[in-house]
Amino acid sequence: MTLEEIIEHLKLEPHPEGGYFRETYRSEGIIPQTVLGKSFDGERNYSTAIYFLLTSDNFSAFHKVAQDEFWHFHIGAPIELHMINPKGEHSHIIIGNNMLNGETPQFVVPGGYWFAAQIMEQNSFALVSCTVSPGFDFADFDLAKRSELTKQFPQHSQLVEQFTRVE
Ligand code: GUN
Repeated sequence: MTLEEIIEHLKLEPHPEGGYFRETYRSEGIIPQTVLGKSFDGERNYSTAIYFLLTSDNFSAFHKVAQDEFWHFHIGAPIELHMINPKGEHSHIIIGNNMLNGETPQFVVPGGYWFAAQIMEQNSFALVSCTVSPGFDFADFDLAKRSELTKQFPQHSQLVEQFTRVE
């Protein structure tokens, strides 16, 4: 399968963080805001899932969501995922299916962590699924501004520079 065939077959659209996506599941059940508490400004579905496809000529820019986010690897080249936690500690993980080579096929990014990703091989791509609970809402999605994230984490200015597009 070519990249173009997958994008067309799965009906993927550009994502604001970079890459392509399509929501594939949104549970009908609703969690009321009173149960969710202050981290959410309204009700949310129980959970949602998307396909997410990242290409090597692009990157997923630093962003954060309120929920823990599961990444499930399907096909393609390994993905390097960078995280900065609320204490400013940087970590990274390789998501892929070559388990004996230190890659992990399933990974959870904790809610509130800034994270960014790139494909580790040239001329290639990776297809994953990302699921969250409570369900995704762009109101809970924060795309980093380079100047603000650099100010918050000056020790990671190089990483922030590499993985942000918005000044
Ligand atoms: N739906 C739209 N964008 C996203 C995203 O970045 N993550 C998840 N889990 N769902 C989404």
